[in-house]
Amino acid sequence: MVTGTIGPLQIRPLERRDCKGGFSCGVPALDAYLPNFAWQHEQRGIARVYVLERMGGESGVLGFYTLSARSVRKADIQEAVTHSLPTFDIPVFYIGSFAVSSSAKRQGYGRQLLGDALYRCVQGAEAVGAHGVYLDSLSDESTSFYCSMGFVAIGSAKTPQPMYLPMTTLRMA
Ligand SMILES: CC(C)(COP(=O)(O)OP(=O)(O)OC[C@H]1O[C@@H](n2cnc3c(N)ncnc32)[C@H](O)[C@@H]1OP(=O)(O)O)[C@@H](O)C(=O)NCCC(=O)NCCS
Repeated sequence: MVTGTIGPLQIRPLERRDCKGGFSCGVPALDAYLPNFAWQHEQRGIARVYVLERMGGESGVLGFYTLSARSVRKADIQEAVTHSLPTFDIPVFYIGSFAVSSSAKRQGYGRQLLGDALYRCVQGAEAVGAHGVYLDSLSDESTSFYCSMGFVAIGSAKTPQPMYLPMTTLRMA
């Protein structure tokens, strides 16, 4: 099991105690995820959940993200890549939930958390085929955040805004 450590902070796999509630990022669906869905998703293989906290755990959860495998249609991501893609559905990694606590925003935690997620994707893609990393951005602010980390907005939908980062681009970063 991989646990990344960043200064006095750590990013580690979800534990039962993380699901007791108290996390708040201002988006109700994301605030509800840890207490209502995260543990069940972990147990059933729906998602892997990683949390950011201060070493020692006294801060509670400062941020979290989920990683899953899924497929997307070729047409969904073709505009984000220059090479041609097969006609069947394309395997990708999916960041289903991503949030930093309201009290911890704009301090670089999101950047570190997303860097950790992308590192795990690069590692995972060594063992399992995955063309890139896909997510749905919920707001203009989060879209700016993901753009700052190399994702590109794709498709015509805006709320949520689908975003994609090809593995080839990620490996070059
Ligand atoms: C979006 C979110 C994850 C960003 O996390 P964060 O820890 O505040 O972001 P960071 O401090 O690491 O910011 C990294 C860069 O992203 C961009 N960024 C972050 N927040 C931004 C905002 N509100 N508006 C515009 N750009 C933003 C900036 O380029 C920033 O770099 P800078 O601070 O040097 O200018 C966080 O605000 C959040 O959890 N929001 C509520 C939940 C949410 O929207 N989750 C995403 C769902 S898809």
